[in-house]
Amino acid sequence: MTIILDGKKTAQKIISKISEEVFKLDVKPKLGVILAGDNPASLIYVNNKLKIAKEIGIEVDFKHFTQNLTNNEIIKKILEWNKDDSVNAILVQLPLPGILYAPSIIEKIDSKKDADGFTPYNIGQLILGYKPYAEPCTPKGIIRLLKEYNIEIEGKIAVVLGRSNIVGKPLSALLRQNNAAVINLHSKTSEKNILAFSKQADILVAAIGQPNYVTSEFVKDDAVVIDVGINRVNNKIIGDVDFKSVVDKASYITPVPGGVGPMTIAMLMENTLELYKNQHKKINPL
Ligand code: GUN
Repeated sequence: MTIILDGKKTAQKIISKISEEVFKLDVKPKLGVILAGDNPASLIYVNNKLKIAKEIGIEVDFKHFTQNLTNNEIIKKILEWNKDDSVNAILVQLPLPGILYAPSIIEKIDSKKDADGFTPYNIGQLILGYKPYAEPCTPKGIIRLLKEYNIEIEGKIAVVLGRSNIVGKPLSALLRQNNAAVINLHSKTSEKNILAFSKQADILVAAIGQPNYVTSEFVKDDAVVIDVGINRVNNKIIGDVDFKSVVDKASYITPVPGGVGPMTIAMLMENTLELYKNQHKKINPL
């Protein structure tokens, strides 16, 4: 029988533990959040992050820039927060409007305050298999969800569809670090090869932003299927996996919504608290 991986319940459990820890702290952790422009999906994601943070006692400083701005305006805010000891974690919501250049902005975040684990130092550590100050939230949340359900990663064939900097690349690194054999496919892989490799997967992750792309023919019997897609179609949220077609074939599957999404937010809260603790203990993992 297929088991539905309940990201909502798992995230709530993690968030409630973090909340208990935060409650005991005299000085609360603070998360600085930057949003540029009015991308409707980003507005919803950021509001969800701010809402959960506030609910569990994490302070937030939210800076919402308009669409028409320069790299320097955002960088100025980042440098200000880097210097401010009361700000423990910094997040710049992606994607940024086209006129901005994300790498020049992200690299300015102090890696010790990098809530997303996106700076070159933190990503470098991750790829090398060393400890970053924080790991990217969605990949970290997926690994945590697999572990919460005691799903073996070591020795498995993991196929990751999508090579984004936010999910596909860091997730491939984390799966490799957990001793999976990782195959990372992308938009320039032929459909024929995507199908052929996906069918070999013990763990199949879809992070390509194409609604209902993965159907049962892509899925090996008893595979673990992780759906990272959040696609808005006719005002409904649809994943990258055609759930109905795949559910009976998989051993485990994440739903959309209620799978990976809530885990991303839980990991952001965890990263914020970990960065706070690191800064307060003056620990340097190097
Ligand atoms: N956009 C989509 N997912 C994410 C994320 O995890 N962090 C940031 N900063 N932007 C995102």
